[in-house]
Amino acid sequence: MIGNRMNTTEELGEAGVIRIRWIPKYTAMERLFHWGHTVTFLALAATGMILFFPFLRPLAQGEGGQLVRLMHRAAAIPYGALPLIYVILEPRRAVLSLRSVFKVSRDDFEWIKGAMPYYLFGRHEAMAPQDRFNTGEKLNAVVIILGSVAFAITGLVMWFGKGIVPIGLYQAMVVMHDVSMVVTVSIFIVHFYLAVVHPMMWAGLVSMRFGVTSAAYAQEHHASWYYGPERAKEIYEARKAALAAEEEYPTD
Ligand code: HEM
Repeated sequence: MIGNRMNTTEELGEAGVIRIRWIPKYTAMERLFHWGHTVTFLALAATGMILFFPFLRPLAQGEGGQLVRLMHRAAAIPYGALPLIYVILEPRRAVLSLRSVFKVSRDDFEWIKGAMPYYLFGRHEAMAPQDRFNTGEKLNAVVIILGSVAFAITGLVMWFGKGIVPIGLYQAMVVMHDVSMVVTVSIFIVHFYLAVVHPMMWAGLVSMRFGVTSAAYAQEHHASWYYGPERAKEIYEARKAALAAEEEYPTD
């Protein structure tokens, strides 16, 4: 069973077998993009750290260092090409995803308020309804998108501008490249923990592997996407009222 409790879409069928209704969430291209981005990001982070951390400096010198620099540049090509391929091959999906990621509403602030007790302490809160991406996923995507743009601009200047652009500008690019790494690697660690380790979020990993999610999980965690914003709001308000009544007059 996925989600907090069994509901109408995951019922005990004949002989007590749980039936799960799967609904499509990501296209094959989106999954290819996600995993390609993950692999190239990790390769860039690993090679970048060798160039960045003084204690790894021995690895950045001599022929080994040349190889690390070559590998960094080689990984940067698919890293930059993948989002472009996604936008060219699936422009409507790309616009849909970008709109969803950059859309901010009151539900995002309410979700953030409830996220700590809900995800860290397992407290059963009525969580504000979410779209195809929840507020945490949107934050991760915004940081990674803006970080990738910064990597591309600063990286290209470092790659092709050495000795051509003023030294001050070159140094500023290096610092911005390093800051982008610290920010994106930090958010990547949180994203990895939530996607792979956190017990309540494992359906996210299933959908990024197979492209589908369970209807029950979508109802619970992506209600605005599943029901539409108005119906999701009604359910949320009703659930909040029920929880408030429960707190005032506990049944046990
Ligand atoms: C479009 C993507 C990217 C491009 C074009 C790019 C390009 C470059 C280039 C040309 C260098 C200079 C290497 C040298 O010393 O010869 C560099 C360094 C570096 N890159 Fe990237 N890179 C990209 C993405 C990334 C990503 C995703 C990360 C980490 C998550 C990263 C981390 C670093 C770090 C830490 C350095 C060392 C900077 C320093 O010397 O302080 N890069 N990058």
